[in-house]
Amino acid sequence: MLYSEKVMDHFTNPRNVGKMDDADGIGEVGNAKCGDIMKIFLKIENDIITDVKFSTFGCGSAIASSSMATEMIKGKPLSQALELTNKAVVEALDGLPAHKLHCSVLAEEAVKAAVKDYYDKNGIEYDPEQFAQKHDCEHCGE
Ligand code: FES
Repeated sequence: MLYSEKVMDHFTNPRNVGKMDDADGIGEVGNAKCGDIMKIFLKIENDIITDVKFSTFGCGSAIASSSMATEMIKGKPLSQALELTNKAVVEALDGLPAHKLHCSVLAEEAVKAAVKDYYDKNGIEYDPEQFAQKHDCEHCGE
């Protein structure tokens, strides 16, 4: 079996799908190679992510990764969301095939972009280092 049960579960029954009209932060990222796009919406109160939604136009692994990532950051402080790596998402999914690891990178990037959007919109100062990519993907060459 190429995909773990968790990947299949999050692909066929993704959590937190949708959009948010009153989002406090929105992150949209795309993968230049495959053309897939992921958008993450955050509702933030007192530095805590109180709600999160995603819409992903992409492959099954990208959908499963975004679903898992939203579960991992919901109810958590922003500082913890910024620590989320694609590797942690992949581990939580019980793995992805090597050539699909790059799909999970979109989830890490979309979460970071959404937090950054929130900081920018609210004039909150931050250390740009926090947004440095920590992803681990042997295929994207970054
Ligand atoms: Fe594009 Fe998976 S193939 S994100």
